[in-house]
Amino acid sequence: SHVVVAIDGPSGTGKSSVSKAVARKLGVGFLDTGAMYRALTWWCLEQQIELTDADAVAAASRDLPLTMGTDPNHPDVFIDGRSIEVHIRESRISQSVSTVATNLDVRADMQQRQRELMAQVSEQTGGVVAEGRDITTVVAPDATVRILMTASEEARMARRSKQLSVTAESTRSQIVDRDRVDSTVSTFMTAADGVVTVDTSHLDFEQSVQAVLHVVSA
Ligand code: CDP
Repeated sequence: SHVVVAIDGPSGTGKSSVSKAVARKLGVGFLDTGAMYRALTWWCLEQQIELTDADAVAAASRDLPLTMGTDPNHPDVFIDGRSIEVHIRESRISQSVSTVATNLDVRADMQQRQRELMAQVSEQTGGVVAEGRDITTVVAPDATVRILMTASEEARMARRSKQLSVTAESTRSQIVDRDRVDSTVSTFMTAADGVVTVDTSHLDFEQSVQAVLHVVSA
């Protein structure tokens, strides 16, 4: 009986760091699915593939030599064996990733990879915590635990601007735009049926981890 935890939510909820910590506590693997779309975006920019060329980007996705490091103590992303973890966090990637992630052929390919990875990691470690935008609804609707992590826009902007060391206002339009585009293909602004909402607006990091663990053990 593997414990499969699916966590979705918009940007700036603390989803990624909280999911990692939960995986550590549970002693299971961790999958950052957003990192996979970021990796494909980075690769397309490297290869000078037009992001708006849907067929070319879909083909690049299918051929992508991507390996995900799923240890929550040092998650990593490799293309052709080279770590690109640092590169995929650059703002040029954040600004382009939605174009790639709203390509439906790309999504079908990534979702399939994610299901395979989750099964593999689960087999190896006894479970997995996977986070993204469509894990509770499309990738793993049969997960043991399904959580939507939310936070007020104000709290999300404050966290993200702290992370990026810029003002809340300059972060706002970027994040709000990305959420708006992303939500045209995934349901993560409201909880789907059977999905438990964890609102982290007034929780600090450790309290958010505890809130998720509480749902897992319920
Ligand atoms: O950490 P942050 O919220 O900034 O983003 P992320 O989780 O790294 O995801 C980056 C982008 O990947 C999102 O803006 C979506 O466009 C896409 N994504 C997606 O479409 N589906 C997922 N399951 C995960 C991410």
